[in-house]
Amino acid sequence: MIKKTVIIDTDPGIDDAMAIALALFSQEIDVPLITTVAGNVGLENVTTNTLRLLSFFKKHVKVAKGASQPLLRVSEDASQFHGETGLAGFSYDKQATECLIDTHAVNAMYQELMKRQKTTVLAIGPLTNIALLLRMYPDSVHYIDEIVIMGGAINRGNYGVYTEFNSGFDPEATKIVYSAPVKKVMIGLEIGNQAIMEKEVLERLGNINGVGKMLSALFKHYQGEYFDKGVEVYDSTAIGYILHPEWYTCLEASVDVELCGTYTSGATLVDFTQKSQYIKVCTTIDAPKFIEWIIDSVAYMSHV
Ligand code: BDR
Ligand code: CA
Repeated sequence: MIKKTVIIDTDPGIDDAMAIALALFSQEIDVPLITTVAGNVGLENVTTNTLRLLSFFKKHVKVAKGASQPLLRVSEDASQFHGETGLAGFSYDKQATECLIDTHAVNAMYQELMKRQKTTVLAIGPLTNIALLLRMYPDSVHYIDEIVIMGGAINRGNYGVYTEFNSGFDPEATKIVYSAPVKKVMIGLEIGNQAIMEKEVLERLGNINGVGKMLSALFKHYQGEYFDKGVEVYDSTAIGYILHPEWYTCLEASVDVELCGTYTSGATLVDFTQKSQYIKVCTTIDAPKFIEWIIDSVAYMSHV
């Protein structure tokens, strides 16, 4: 089987942790590099969290630190949900510090892209690193197969009334990425809102094995008093798309990004009447299949 090569750009982050697990344990993809970006919490914390997860999963993948702030703005992080460290709810005893490389994420991504014809980029944090890549190395578009983005919203947001967190955290970067001549798939907030892991499933997850126990402890913290209502699974819907696009309905559309709005900066304006050859926007997911797939996949992560 020819494996897809996927670079993960991330800000772990509780739901990032599950997406990273699904990617690293998949037999169908190869992850040569993880790049970190400030978002849910600051750059140092998201990088430490990535190294903690790698140590926990017993995986060796290069990690490169990227942008410590959005391109232009001072944005609010999401530590109120993910905890001060970004991975509250579980204590990790080690970090895979040997995986950290001394190259900036943008340069590391470019070097990795140059190694082969086509690489998929999985973007599950703010788009700052990817915007910098596209500006610093415009020829990278020839080496990217597709950028699969968890971010943006067709309708209402979770950061602002119309703004999803990743796009609202760095609106200018989001605009740069959506206007670049490279294929993109937007898996916005609506998809995660359909992909709810109910309380019973979270409890099943916690009883599968060590990885399941760790992920369910994180989600328990994330949902706090709302645990009984289950949890929306956001970032994992993007890795789900890479492995099982048949579970998603996607339409060609144009996406512009609000930069001047008093209340709406970072809002993604999805226009299904103006198609773009570079952009597909997902509108539905087969949530039951997706959630069962998560449970089955975690069951295979048994050697941890
Ligand atoms: C996104 O925001 C972050 O808090 C999550 O990690 C996810 O990437 C959902 O809006
Ligand atoms: Ca994230």
